[in-house]
Amino acid sequence: MGRRFESCRGRRLCVKANDMKNLLVTGGCGFIGSDFIRFLFEESDYAGRIINLDALTYAANPMNLADIAERFRDRYVFVKADIRDAAAVARVFDEYDVDAVCHLAAESHVDRSILGPGDFIHTNVLGTFHLLEATRARADRIQIFHQVSTDEVYGSLGDEGFFTETTPYRPNSPYSASKAAADHLVRAYHRTYGLPVTISNCSNNYGPRQFPEKLIPLMILNAREGKTLPVYGDGRHIRDWLYVRDHCRAIWEIIRRGRRGDAYNIGGLCEIENIEVVRRICALVDEMGPPLPGGRPRIELIRFVKDRPGHDRRYAMDISKIQTELDWSPRETFESGLRRTVKWYLENSEWVHGVRTGAYREWITRQYGLDAAST
Ligand code: NAD
Ligand code: TYD
Repeated sequence: MGRRFESCRGRRLCVKANDMKNLLVTGGCGFIGSDFIRFLFEESDYAGRIINLDALTYAANPMNLADIAERFRDRYVFVKADIRDAAAVARVFDEYDVDAVCHLAAESHVDRSILGPGDFIHTNVLGTFHLLEATRARADRIQIFHQVSTDEVYGSLGDEGFFTETTPYRPNSPYSASKAAADHLVRAYHRTYGLPVTISNCSNNYGPRQFPEKLIPLMILNAREGKTLPVYGDGRHIRDWLYVRDHCRAIWEIIRRGRRGDAYNIGGLCEIENIEVVRRICALVDEMGPPLPGGRPRIELIRFVKDRPGHDRRYAMDISKIQTELDWSPRETFESGLRRTVKWYLENSEWVHGVRTGAYREWITRQYGLDAAST
């Protein structure tokens, strides 16, 4: 089975957008997955069908794609399925004649992984294994298996240096350890079975439709509502922020032109301390949102709270490989991207209300005739 892909090993293999007919996107109802599908339909040259496989966990919101589902109904299929279920995964591959995979489905929040690591092992590790097995079973048809991963697998940096694609994996949280394990499986399936895989390790994303448990949307919404803004530890932890659409463009370039068997770092060239991110959000919400009682500036809502256990100090990406090989660079600056994001959250109160109250889950039940809470 490995032999068929022997020739693709380590080589650049251009997949023309039109070569792929049935692209399976896992986790397409989440933050990045939904933006990726939106990007494919609205901005890319992909002309085939997209099968969005998602279990609709708490982090999913099919309303993220309600307009897309309507506008592109001939080329878009949603399948509620769980990647922890090997038989269900195999059925989807067969039923939809899958010939390309972009794998985003995951448990994605570090704090949740500290509270309950089990789901992270089952979804991120075993779920990826099931997808790889389904890919291996159809190896003669699959053109690409792309694994969307994170910079967190590399661990934490001191004041100096950057992560490169050859930095050894040293994950510190159950989340990053589960993603690291999945990445290793993906790589092993390339080396052992010759599957045409690529991996991307991306820094922190932000933008519209991110579930408000992550730093930026949580702070925007709390700031708008005059609630406390909890900053972990001394607030001087550094993340390298990337606007979500830039990430989606990078994934697409890697799928089409990335070297099979290789990993690519993706980052925003934008290192900022958490406290500075929160201060900027306060200023933007003061400017664009409703005033707080007495005209109080939102910066007064910031509180330093207990630090996260095992909290990584600094992430920073060296992105020279993707810049030189695939001619990709981030387009959005943090200033413009953050302003755009704050505006989106302030203007989309229906989305926010739905996510906060869980009202969208009733919509899921109505839409799909399913008990979404069972996932
Ligand atoms: P998200 O939590 O917003 O969405 C995850 C999606 O996966 C949801 O729609 C959820 O329903 C689905 N899902 C979860 N478990 C599933 C299962 N067992 N079966 C099927 N579907 C399941 O996550 P996100 O922020 O959009 O991240 C997407 C991917 O990108 C993840 O693999 C994550 O590790 C990676 N990533 C995220 C970031 C970031 O900053 N958010 C950065 C780098 C990499
Ligand atoms: P997060 O958005 O959870 O992403 P990650 O942990 O994957 O980097 O957190 C980003 C940074 O913000 C991280 O250093 C933890 C910090 N943080 C806070 O200080 N307060 C918060 O309420 C949250 C959710 C995160």
